Amino acid sequence: MSDFVFSKAGKVKGTEHVAGPAKHRSPMSARPLSYVPNSRLRRRIQSVAPARRFSTEHELPSTEAPSFAFAFDIDGVLLHVSKPIPGATETLRFLQEHNIPFILLTNGGGRHESERVADLSKKLDVPLTTSNFVQSHTPFQELVDELADKTILVTGANADKCRAIAHAYGFKNVVTPADIMAAEPRVWPFEPLMEEVYARTSKPLPCLIHSGPEAVIDAKTIQGKPPLKIDAMFVFNDPRDWALDIQIIVDLILSQQGYLGTYSPKNGDLSLPGCGWQGDGQPPLYFSNADLFWSTGYHLPRFGQGAFQAAVAGVWRRVTGGHELHRRVFGKPSSETYAFAERVLQRHRHELLKEIAGRHGPGRLGRVYMVGDNPESDIAGANDYRSEVGTEWESVLVKTGVWTPQRAGGEAVLKGRLKPGAVVGDVREAVRWALEREGLDGRL
Ligand code: G3P
Ligand code: MG
Repeated sequence: MSDFVFSKAGKVKGTEHVAGPAKHRSPMSARPLSYVPNSRLRRRIQSVAPARRFSTEHELPSTEAPSFAFAFDIDGVLLHVSKPIPGATETLRFLQEHNIPFILLTNGGGRHESERVADLSKKLDVPLTTSNFVQSHTPFQELVDELADKTILVTGANADKCRAIAHAYGFKNVVTPADIMAAEPRVWPFEPLMEEVYARTSKPLPCLIHSGPEAVIDAKTIQGKPPLKIDAMFVFNDPRDWALDIQIIVDLILSQQGYLGTYSPKNGDLSLPGCGWQGDGQPPLYFSNADLFWSTGYHLPRFGQGAFQAAVAGVWRRVTGGHELHRRVFGKPSSETYAFAERVLQRHRHELLKEIAGRHGPGRLGRVYMVGDNPESDIAGANDYRSEVGTEWESVLVKTGVWTPQRAGGEAVLKGRLKPGAVVGDVREAVRWALEREGLDGRL
C-alpha cells in the first residue's frame, strides 16, 4: 500500500539502508513503530564512521512510541457524500500499520457511534472501532450523570432515532417533539406536513402538559399528577421540522422552570438581570454542532445544524426584543469537544501503544494534527483549544471539502484563528506534511 519509509533508517527484509530521497528507498513491511527524530539520527550518524549504514534493530529503539497523533474530520476529508476521498483509505491503513494513533472527530451525528463506525469501516474499507471515534453528540454522554433520571427533550433529523441514542447513552426519560404534538396538536396549529412521521414515532408522554387558563403553575400538579417538566433540551443533529422544533424550544425557554405550557412571570421584567429572560430555571439548550455549512453532493455547501441554531437564536431575539439566546454548543470548534476528543485519544493511544511501549508506557502525547476541511470548525477549534495537559494541537486544512481557494472566502479568510498550520491538497498530503514535520521524511 505504501512505500513510506517510516524511520530514517528503516530495515527492509534483512537489508539495511539509510533513508535518502524517496526514489532510493525500498518498501518497508508493516512492523511495530520504530523511529527517531531527524536530529537524533544525525547525532547517531555523526558518532560513527560516515560511510556506515545502520541496522534498525541495533540503532533505533523499537519500543519508542510516537509522541504525536492525528484527528481527522470525516465529511470533506475522508468521505465526500458517501464515497472515500482518494487517498483516505490508504492513509488510515498506513497509520494503523505503523501504530500511529488517530481519532475520527466529526460534527456529523444522528446515529449511534457503533452504527456509524460500522458503516464507516465498510465505506472506507478500514477496520475502525468506537474507541477512537467522536461525533457531534458523543460528549452529551458526559451529562448523563446529572440528567439520567430527569426528563429531556431531544430533536434531530430523526428525533425517534435520537431518542434511541439518548437511551443508549443512559438518559432514561426522553421526549421528542412528535410526542408533544401527538399529545397536544394545538401546540403547532397548522396542518402538519409530517403527521405520518409523528404518528409513527410518537410515544405517550410520561405526564400531562400544563394547559391554561393560567400560564403560571402554582401547585405543581394537574389533577393530582405532576405536569410535564423538561430539564434539558438536546439538538442531536440537523432537525428537519424547524418550525415545530423552534416553537417547542422557544416555548420551553419562555416557560416557568421547564413546565411546558407555562410562561415565566419573570420574562421581560426590566428590574431583573437580563430582563428576566432565561432566568427562571428554564431547561438548558444544547446543540451538538455549530456548522453553518457542510460539504454534500450538491456543488455548493449546504446548511448544517448551525443554520438551525441561527434560526432559533434569531427568533429568540425577535421574541425578547434583542436578547441573546443562552445555549451551549458542543462539536467543533468548541473547546469542550476538543477536550473530550483529547481524553478519548489519550485512552485510545494508551491502549494501542502499551504493548509496544513496554513498561514505561507510551509517554506524553506532544502534538495532535487536526486535519479538516472547514476553517470555521476544524481549524478554528484546533487553534483555539488549549490543552490542560499541554498537548499542542496543530491544524491542517485540506482542499477536498467545504473550503477551497475559490470558495468559502478563499485564502482571504485564512487569518487569525482560521489560519491553519498548513494548507494541503488532501488527507494524504496532510499526513505526509505532519510526518515530515515530526522529522520523519519519506512518503505515503
Ligand atoms: O455539519 C455536518 C457534518 O456532517 C460535518 O461533518 O465530518 O465534516 O465534521 P464533519
Ligand atoms: Mg468536514
